[in-house]
Amino acid sequence: MLEFDNIEYTYPCNTTPAIKNLSWQIPVGRRCALIGRNGCGKTTLFRLANGLYQPQKGVIRYQGKPLRYNRKSLSDLRQKVGLVFQNPEQQLVATTVIEDISYGLCNLGVSEGEMRDRVRATLADFDLEDLAHTPINYLSLGQKKRVSIADVMVLAPQLLLLDEPTAYLDPYQVRQLRRMLNQIEKKGTTIAIATHNLDFVYAWANWVCVVDRGQIVAEDTPEGIFRRSEVVEGLGLGCPLAMSILEALHHDTPTEQALKDALFFQGKLD
Ligand SMILES: Nc1ncnc2c1ncn2[C@@H]1O[C@H](COP(=O)(O)OP(=O)(O)OP(=O)(O)O)[C@@H](O)[C@H]1O
Ligand SMILES: [Mg+2]
Repeated sequence: MLEFDNIEYTYPCNTTPAIKNLSWQIPVGRRCALIGRNGCGKTTLFRLANGLYQPQKGVIRYQGKPLRYNRKSLSDLRQKVGLVFQNPEQQLVATTVIEDISYGLCNLGVSEGEMRDRVRATLADFDLEDLAHTPINYLSLGQKKRVSIADVMVLAPQLLLLDEPTAYLDPYQVRQLRRMLNQIEKKGTTIAIATHNLDFVYAWANWVCVVDRGQIVAEDTPEGIFRRSEVVEGLGLGCPLAMSILEALHHDTPTEQALKDALFFQGKLD
């Protein structure tokens, strides 16, 4: 569906590339999670995928066709490839919640009746009905994040890229998000996320790509990735809580301390 072919990208003010010789694919229907330490390049990759940045080297293809960077091609691309920003403050454009969720649909040119139905359903899905007419400025960060996800999900893109979707969300909203991802996937959307939430990765993804210093250094199933010590320990990523606890239970008589250590991804507590 989306293909990066030998991509290099350097930010205008930098000398070292943020993304280097990177080749990567998201096939249709795959639940892909990008993981990696702060600053490894996950957000940059998503912004390249959405055409916000143009690589200096290599080609990005969507459904086999190289991305083009004129206004019309980018607008077409962004109707098919939706990106939820890491920082919701950078994404919200309108004055109130309902206006923000309607904004993208106005640009798509859907009928007034359809827009009303889709916006109403999305407000309900994201528990935003009571906040529909609240000014965006009055929202908490978690509420803003929910609106930013709703903004993109309402458009039902073919490919949905979510940058840190669970950031700022409470546990109830994280469960809701997982339910919404399942729903949108059933309608035919392929989803990729970038995240530090390894429990979410373990529960949701079926493919994990590890990014390190601008390159994809490993790809595998979640179980496959988190059993690799060069990833868990070498890159310092740790592993999902469920796997750490299973490991603690497997190795020796589980003490309270062993289980507490598992919380810190197999490191010892101070
Ligand atoms: N606007 C920018 N201008 C210059 N350099 C940038 C800019 N945004 C990111 N970078 C640099 O590019 C590299 C990759 O950053 P990126 O935001 O893609 O990382 P990330 O994996 O998303 O990190 P995090 O987990 O903190 O979200 C980092 O070294 C960062 O300092
Ligand atoms: Mg990021």
